[in-house]
Amino acid sequence: MSRITVLGSVNQDYVLTVARHPLPGETLLANGLQLLPGGKGANQAVAAARLGSKVAMIGCVGDDPAGDALLRQLQSAGVDTGFVMRIAGVPSGAAFVTLASDGENSIIVAAGANSYCDVAQVDRAADTIRASQVLVAQLEVPLSAVEHALEVVGGRRGHTIVVVNASPPQVLTASFLARVDVLVVNEHEARVLRGLPADGLASDPAALARGLVDLGAQSVVVTCGADGAVFGRRRPEGAGVAHVPAPRVRPVDTTGAGDAFAAALAVSLAEGRELDHAVRFAVAVGAAKTTAVGAQGPISMEHVQSLLESIADHVPPPGER
Ligand code: RIB
Repeated sequence: MSRITVLGSVNQDYVLTVARHPLPGETLLANGLQLLPGGKGANQAVAAARLGSKVAMIGCVGDDPAGDALLRQLQSAGVDTGFVMRIAGVPSGAAFVTLASDGENSIIVAAGANSYCDVAQVDRAADTIRASQVLVAQLEVPLSAVEHALEVVGGRRGHTIVVVNASPPQVLTASFLARVDVLVVNEHEARVLRGLPADGLASDPAALARGLVDLGAQSVVVTCGADGAVFGRRRPEGAGVAHVPAPRVRPVDTTGAGDAFAAALAVSLAEGRELDHAVRFAVAVGAAKTTAVGAQGPISMEHVQSLLESIADHVPPPGER
């Protein structure tokens, strides 16, 4: 069984269901409020465990009832929570999710205990990180902890694949990016990492992927929602990119679709698959996630299989575009 370590956030999601997103200064009445498990790290850990990997999680929760429930949720998915710390006197991370009737979401996160993830905690998990085929991290915990995890992998490059889902986005140094094997971002995040205006005009995802490879990452996957994903790889003659189309689904909740994508990518890479195969699997898993409510909503493998079959077999090799 493949082993994956996830370093990241654990949140209580407060999900407000609304007909549409509010305008600035507007008050709206929600149709409902649900409390669901979330956090990019926890979502990725749970999805990877459900997809069949042995998963260890590094993260922090508060010593509040939400922390109890979030830990139980991780454990019931089979995630090893031995490196999840309880932080006394601090609330667990909380995410306020607005979910509109078209399935689109917007999220504001109060980090709470997540901001206590530190270098010492990563050091305690060093052996587990190095024994993993894949380390996955996002940016909802302090960057210093993520940077240290990349240093811990250090000489194990090639044995432990480093996947960083740069969400929420921040500008990353070339030396950070050079330690990343696969950088996963959506188009908005890619623009921020490139130093472009986040709400700027639509950019070509292939150009975004190429630009991020040029900044230092070995491989970059740009997720494009209903348009699938574009991936690019470093090559001596310059970055080559390819597109994987998305299968058609009727989305009810896009929350956590990027997390399901990152988890599926990590599982596939941990099983020794090539990046093009891993991206195709991730596109199908991400699409399947949008048909279930909640960031950790169930994903049916039968559904994933049928979605995979509906994606064209041919993925052009990098460089065709
Ligand atoms: O990616 C979705 C997640 O972002 C939510 O579960 C929320 O907790 C925030 O971390």
